[in-house]
Amino acid sequence: MNSIQKLRISLTDACNFRCPYCMPLNPKFQAKMDHLSFEEILQTVRRLKNILPLKQIRLTGGEPLLRPRIVGFIHELHLMGFEDIGLTTNGFYLKENLLSLKEAGLKSINLSLDSLNEESFYKLARVKPTTNAYKKVIDSLIMAKTLGFQVKTNTVLMKGYNDDQIIPILELSKRLDFYPRFLELMSLGEAREYKENLMSMQEMLTVIHKAYGRTRLQHSPKDSTSVNLKAETGLEFGIIASETEPFCQNCSRLRLSADGKLYGCLMKDEGISIKNCSDEEFKHKVETAILMKPYHRIYNADTVMHSIGG
Ligand code: 5AD
Ligand code: SF4
Repeated sequence: MNSIQKLRISLTDACNFRCPYCMPLNPKFQAKMDHLSFEEILQTVRRLKNILPLKQIRLTGGEPLLRPRIVGFIHELHLMGFEDIGLTTNGFYLKENLLSLKEAGLKSINLSLDSLNEESFYKLARVKPTTNAYKKVIDSLIMAKTLGFQVKTNTVLMKGYNDDQIIPILELSKRLDFYPRFLELMSLGEAREYKENLMSMQEMLTVIHKAYGRTRLQHSPKDSTSVNLKAETGLEFGIIASETEPFCQNCSRLRLSADGKLYGCLMKDEGISIKNCSDEEFKHKVETAILMKPYHRIYNADTVMHSIGG
């Protein structure tokens, strides 16, 4: 149980975007009454903290900012003394919340940024341009940096959609000083339909090497999901190669879904419900969830990505 240092909490499975690799166009979301309340989540985190060396909490979704009163909840988490509290978001509702999130103790933001080209941005987010989503995301990114958040971007590359976005995003990262990460399309749940659109790490590197020359591997923590690289020009970026270079052996994550289930692994279809259980039962359930962690990557899982969190 010693290796679990990171907890990902999905606050809702709902989202206002419909990224094809994550959501169907007409998703069925869980009933809100099935979601753990913030008080229940805090109680769960307290219990986990007693039995695991948790250092980092990441809040995910769906889109976590759809949960009302998230700022007060983050403040409560902050008071529990974690080294890092992070938020994974699509950025749509971020800008107006940034100042209070900062004051509440949020440290880092992982922002989905699939394209800087408005046409492919909207093709991937599958929201109407009248929502102004693109501008909202970019404004959020700029403001998050201005306020001093650690910002990483996530770009899931899909051939035929946004495979031309590597260089524009890397160039923007130099100007705005965020850490860009490019993700191989993980073939699970909805994304299995897009297997042929996978852009592999090697293919990404071919594009990057052509533009910036050689890259060197940077030191990163053993349980890092990304391969972190640096070009001779100083440019730094990460690649999450979950398909061609899975990192399951070193995974130190545990996941809690919005409806109160623990998952040792994204690829396991069944979670373990921790609702209404005694301390003793809770401990046993946590051990069982951790034992669900596979040594090798599981392929073709049915996982509903938006309900367990990316
Ligand atoms: N493959 C890779 N990354 C994914 N995400 C969601 N679904 C997938 C998938 N099939 C990631 C995106 C998003 C985060 C919430 O989860 O990077 O930014
Ligand atoms: Fe929403 Fe994120 Fe899934 Fe896109 S990847 S649909 S933004 S939860």
